[in-house]
Amino acid sequence: MKDKLKFLQQRREITTGGGGPKRIEDQHKKGKQTARERLEQFLDPGSFVEVGTFVQGNLEDAGTNDIPLPGEGVVTGYGTVEGRLVYIFAQDFTVSGGSLGEMHAAKICRVMDLAAQNGAPLIGINDSGGARIQEGVASLDGYGKIFFRNTINSGVIPQISVIMGPSAGGAVYSPALTDFVFMVDDTSYMFITGPQVIKAVTGEEVTPDKLGGAATHNETSGVAHFRAKNEHECFAMIKKLLSYLPSNNLDNPPAVSPADPIIPADDLVELVPADPNKPYDVVEVIKRIVDGSELFQVQEHYAKNAVVGFARINGQAVGIIANQAKYLAGCLDINCSDKIARFVRFCDCFNIPLVTFVDVPGYLPGVHQEYGGIIRHGAKILYAYSEATVPQISVVLRKAYGGAYIAMNARSLGADLVYAWPTAEIAVMGPEGAINIINRREIEKAENPDEERKRKVAEYRQKFANPYIAAARGWIDDVIDPRETRQKLIAGLASLKNKFEDRPRKKHGNFPV
Ligand code: HXC
Repeated sequence: MKDKLKFLQQRREITTGGGGPKRIEDQHKKGKQTARERLEQFLDPGSFVEVGTFVQGNLEDAGTNDIPLPGEGVVTGYGTVEGRLVYIFAQDFTVSGGSLGEMHAAKICRVMDLAAQNGAPLIGINDSGGARIQEGVASLDGYGKIFFRNTINSGVIPQISVIMGPSAGGAVYSPALTDFVFMVDDTSYMFITGPQVIKAVTGEEVTPDKLGGAATHNETSGVAHFRAKNEHECFAMIKKLLSYLPSNNLDNPPAVSPADPIIPADDLVELVPADPNKPYDVVEVIKRIVDGSELFQVQEHYAKNAVVGFARINGQAVGIIANQAKYLAGCLDINCSDKIARFVRFCDCFNIPLVTFVDVPGYLPGVHQEYGGIIRHGAKILYAYSEATVPQISVVLRKAYGGAYIAMNARSLGADLVYAWPTAEIAVMGPEGAINIINRREIEKAENPDEERKRKVAEYRQKFANPYIAAARGWIDDVIDPRETRQKLIAGLASLKNKFEDRPRKKHGNFPV
């Protein structure tokens, strides 16, 4: 027995030693931690339980201490984060560059299956050179199995991808299929084809960071949802995200003790200028309404004309969606349509109520937008809100014009309660555009066309650009003092707590993409 225990101990040491001291040193020199160091830093102390410790590809050596690829280049298992169960894998770059072979993939699939069966989030820490070249097609089959599980488990358990090194080639598609992608400055990058291939094919010269670093994917492509300065900050951000999420689609988000906003709501009335053309920061509005004035933004650096993120209202996690008047006047464009739609769908999958703050002049006009497919992208918001069955409350702060009024979850799309501030303007289009169509001839004929235009705009604004026509038809449930917003949301969410809505049975809808 003693010999066997010694042998076990030796095997464990070899396996947990990863690629050995030299490669670990190289990993550290790059500013990266090893897979096991990452697990230790992220999970509750001592909670990690490894699964598949001795998995290996070469069966001939299985009974010996000759372990060419310790752990097959990935550490898998489960543990807790602030006491809650999560399943996790961390690719080990020190072993064959974390490349994915058949048994590496099998280990990942195993924890994916366990996560789904046990209703716990899956977290994948990616740091890999991609398909293990020596294993050829078997690696591709492994990727396929992971993609399949990402898809089947979508909407069942939250899936979070953390990029802490390279993620290149087809390997990027597992993160892309998950709910959230975290990236770390300077050490992580994602691309389908690297700089060298791009240079050979198109002649373009670009660095890996510029091509697929954290800034690029958070600001330009929208592939990533969160950007961290370093691994430590990244793990803290993941923990924060998890605190808002239920463990699975049958669970509710964890409730925490309610907290008043730190920033008082007194100045809400002045914060949003009555002049509909003046910008302001909608995040400041949200901070005056939600618990602890805390909004955890998702895709904060992308499509800034919309703000989406998690917050709590009276201790209950909610998904916040808002137009940001500071950017593009809060217009809906291609990118923010994708941003809003994906967020709404995530919240709906996981029983997180939606609170929408509306101040939107319309969809963004322009050839570029039309050529880019604003029609099909814009449709995503309509689809996502219409499909959602979680409690939904909309608050119209200022402008809500035309199709964008509907898109930002009007009653007709499924909002359960809709409130408007007295500054709300709800109409088919803004005054300037409207009078150019309906009063064009009168303005042209007038002695002083400019004066006449101004008069007509003022007339239109008074007659149509207010919340009372919509309220008169019952599409707005109440026009409220801005300072009452939090109380209305608290009461509204409480009243919708047991909301149940059934829909026609179908295999699945055909979401516009
Ligand atoms: C096997 C690999 C590997 C791979 C890296 N290694 N990538 N082994 N298959 N794909 C090994 C290296 O041989 C080396 O082994 C160790 O990992 C570290 O690699 P280095 O090159 O020394 O590290 P670094 O300089 O940091 O460069 C990292 C890298 C580079 C940029 C990721 O290794 C690289 O370009 N690798 C290939 C990337 C790639 O093209 N992958 C295939 C993509 S296609 P030793 O023993 O020397 O330490 C793909 C298809 C997926 O993934 C399709 C899914 C549908």
